[in-house]
Amino acid sequence: MTEWRIPLSDVDLDEHEEDAVLRVIRSGWLTAGAEVRAFECEFAKFVGVDDAVALANCTAALHLACMALGVGPGVEVIVPALTFVATANAVAVAGGQVVFADCVSTRDLTLDPEDVARRVTPATGGIICMHYGGHPCRMDALQDVCRREGLFLIEDAAHAPGGRWRERMLGTIGDVGCFSFFGNKNMTMGEGGVAVAADPVLLERLRLLRSHGMTTTSWDRFQGHAHDYDVRQAGFNYRLAELPAAVGREQLRKLPANNARRTALLERYVERLTGAEGVEMPFTSDAGAAHLAVVLLEDAERRDLVRNALRERGIQTSLHYPPAHLFDHYRTASGYAPGDLPVAEEVAARLVTLPLYATMTPEQVDEVCECVAASA
Ligand SMILES: Cc1ncc(COP(=O)(O)O)c(C=O)c1O
Repeated sequence: MTEWRIPLSDVDLDEHEEDAVLRVIRSGWLTAGAEVRAFECEFAKFVGVDDAVALANCTAALHLACMALGVGPGVEVIVPALTFVATANAVAVAGGQVVFADCVSTRDLTLDPEDVARRVTPATGGIICMHYGGHPCRMDALQDVCRREGLFLIEDAAHAPGGRWRERMLGTIGDVGCFSFFGNKNMTMGEGGVAVAADPVLLERLRLLRSHGMTTTSWDRFQGHAHDYDVRQAGFNYRLAELPAAVGREQLRKLPANNARRTALLERYVERLTGAEGVEMPFTSDAGAAHLAVVLLEDAERRDLVRNALRERGIQTSLHYPPAHLFDHYRTASGYAPGDLPVAEEVAARLVTLPLYATMTPEQVDEVCECVAASA
């Protein structure tokens, strides 16, 4: 295993999470119960909605959101090309047709509403936007397209818990918002996710789909609140368990302070790298959630040189993201080819993701920046 001196991401876990885990183990109840319910209520309150549905991960949230909003055979859903492939896969596994759209520009890597509008057909059911790096998508323009064309809007807010668009929390603007608590996210429980929706009917559909369409849970029955159950529709086991939920409750408490730390570190990146020869930084505005620090180099060759220079100094980097339309599956299943989404492809060729995590020090940011500026 490589020992990175500065990893790409890191967790902020301490005795609070340890105590939470012990509390669950000592309770003797490990599957969805009081901790999961408390997490749902606390997360809903944090983002300012009435309720939330905790899930095994964000992929499950996206999948159920698609199903609950009627995605199936013959329904097209427009998704960003520059995203983690889960955004697209959720549509495909729900039986829908994935239609990729491009980024706004090399300065704003979120979904381009104008390109989305061009790709709407009579078969389009909706849009999934993704708040890249915690930066809000162009929500006004996306909402306009949805209103005009009668489409649903799902927010993939995997990068964005605590981020805002104007006065609203990201993930609470569209029909369904989906969050991830994977190990590299702004708050983590190892694996976990949550879906929020303002419409109680939609929320109930998500809740049913999460657990085989069953009308009561094992926890309800254990508590004596129910003795049997009916099945209203075919569903999945996408439940979150008590241990990750308990960890998530502690992580949620830390989230505002950790987001503020991430934002300050990202501002330092911007300060240090602005004006550096051959280095561009998309998104210089405050995101609130500050999930990723990304820079664009002149071209793919220069990008690879910078990545190698950083690796030699023990600094881990990544690439968010290889364009999803060029993965073998989407080339074969949907006939995409290089050149189809030119901005996403250019971004993917020139981009490198630099380390960013709440426990990173300002001096570590300086070291990364010096190395980038020297090798760019
Ligand atoms: C943009 C985006 N969407 C969806 C996901 C899927 O989240 P999960 O790993 O919780 O299923 C991720 C996780 O990496 C992501 O970054």
